[in-house]
Amino acid sequence: MNAQTFIKSLEEEVSHHEAVHHPFLKRFATEKLTLKQIQIFGLQHYQLVKIFVNYMTNLLPKIPDKDAVALFRTVFDDEFGQHTIFRSHPALYRHFLKSLGLEDEAWGRVKPLPETSQYIEAHLQQTRDAAFLVGLGIVGPAHEFAIPSMFEYIISGIKANTTLTDDDFEYFTMHIIEDKEHAVIFNKLIARHVETEAGQKQLREGAMLSLAYRKKFWEGLERAVFESA
Ligand SMILES: [Fe+2]
Ligand SMILES: [Fe+2]
Repeated sequence: MNAQTFIKSLEEEVSHHEAVHHPFLKRFATEKLTLKQIQIFGLQHYQLVKIFVNYMTNLLPKIPDKDAVALFRTVFDDEFGQHTIFRSHPALYRHFLKSLGLEDEAWGRVKPLPETSQYIEAHLQQTRDAAFLVGLGIVGPAHEFAIPSMFEYIISGIKANTTLTDDDFEYFTMHIIEDKEHAVIFNKLIARHVETEAGQKQLREGAMLSLAYRKKFWEGLERAVFESA
């Protein structure tokens, strides 16, 4: 399989993965939700949001391509909010949390679910210690490419169950556009390294590993949001 065919087939696999259409996401999109339930989701998910750039900073020095810094730069600019930290992605996310009535202490104090901690630990460790192609599989196909599909469910649930304005949940809507662009940037790098079967195997391994942890993360949220709320 050539590089482009491989990338397309991996994206196809990711877009049908059970983590991307998890029962939690379907329930969040369609069931009646209380503010408390949305807050529980919001606070756990924030733990993932605030750490994401660390996966990129772990990974970047390991990538052999000379233009990797320049390519990552575009994504970093979006993540850090370009010219103002007030529009960094974690800052936009905290704006969402505030609009749910949460105070600063709430996101400082939140106890991560075991699945949330496991997700973060595994992603930090893999992006730091595994081969760079595994890391690219994690941040590219399993994050940038997968996130728009998952966020569609989240946005439906927020719209149906709150009076939040478009501005309040901008974090989610903007990622549907931005992450599609980020996926294209990562694919540019990925394409050079997946001409071989060995390269394809590593890349896919990273993507599937990340999605397996994502599935567990949604399982944890399903329990916390729907069973103990
Ligand atoms: Fe982001
Ligand atoms: Fe992104």
